[in-house]
Amino acid sequence: MATWVITGGNRGIGKEFILQLIQENHTIITGVRDPELMDLEHELLSVFKLDVSNTQSVTEFAQSVSQHTDRVNVLINNAGQMDGRWQSIDEVDPDVSLEVLNVNTIGPLRVAQALWPLLEATGQSKVANITSLMGSIEDCQSGRSYAYRTSKTGLNMITKILSVEGKDADISVSCYHPGWVLTDMGGERAPVLPQESVKGLIELIEMQTLERSGRFFEYTGVELPW
Ligand SMILES: NC(=O)c1ccc[n+]([C@@H]2O[C@H](COP(=O)([O-])OP(=O)(O)OC[C@H]3O[C@@H](n4cnc5c(N)ncnc54)[C@H](OP(=O)(O)O)[C@@H]3O)[C@@H](O)[C@H]2O)c1
Repeated sequence: MATWVITGGNRGIGKEFILQLIQENHTIITGVRDPELMDLEHELLSVFKLDVSNTQSVTEFAQSVSQHTDRVNVLINNAGQMDGRWQSIDEVDPDVSLEVLNVNTIGPLRVAQALWPLLEATGQSKVANITSLMGSIEDCQSGRSYAYRTSKTGLNMITKILSVEGKDADISVSCYHPGWVLTDMGGERAPVLPQESVKGLIELIEMQTLERSGRFFEYTGVELPW
């Protein structure tokens, strides 16, 4: 069984990943902002403190992970933050925008950087970045959500860059749109259940190889335009 690291496993899509991976007997490590609020306990699950927007926190998280295990087969960069769902430019808050970019774009880069030596040592390891169709430049017809969209476009580029570097390190890196999912972020009108989204995502991540690295897929397996 493999060792999976998941950021933001305390609710939403991250928590559903943990529930389904436990069923498959995998070992799971999750990083959450407040471990004391984590309401899941299992012998296969370890919980460490992590704020992906803070470099010191990510360094300490990586230390905890490497004290706990000598291999990481899969890193899922799941933690993410919405912006103010701004409708127009006059509503955009630059400071909140920077925070969203920090969490959604630089956060996954920080975590990948900190865990890279473990991923490299493991071999045939994988990084799966949970992005969004909202980050697709080609798909951007409705505008809005300046910071969130940009943060995911940036994450997509980081995915591509990491995938190039990962080839020599035997690490595949791809990004995945989970669909519009019924979580706190997705809201109550979202048509896709977390169970359905995560089932599809796990199947795709299981299929991820160096040949399928540097690509952008929806949870259904459909390949998306950058
Ligand atoms: N739901 C959708 O429709 C949808 C669509 C496309 C993409 N996505 C992406 O899917 C991922 C998961 O979304 P979700 O729907 O599960 O959202 P969610 O229910 O709002 O959960 C977000 C998770 O990210 C964590 N997080 C936020 N900022 C963090 C930070 N600085 N450090 C560590 N953890 C942090 C949250 O922890 P706290 O509890 O501490 O806040 C929470 O566990 C995100 O990357 C999101 O952009 C979601």
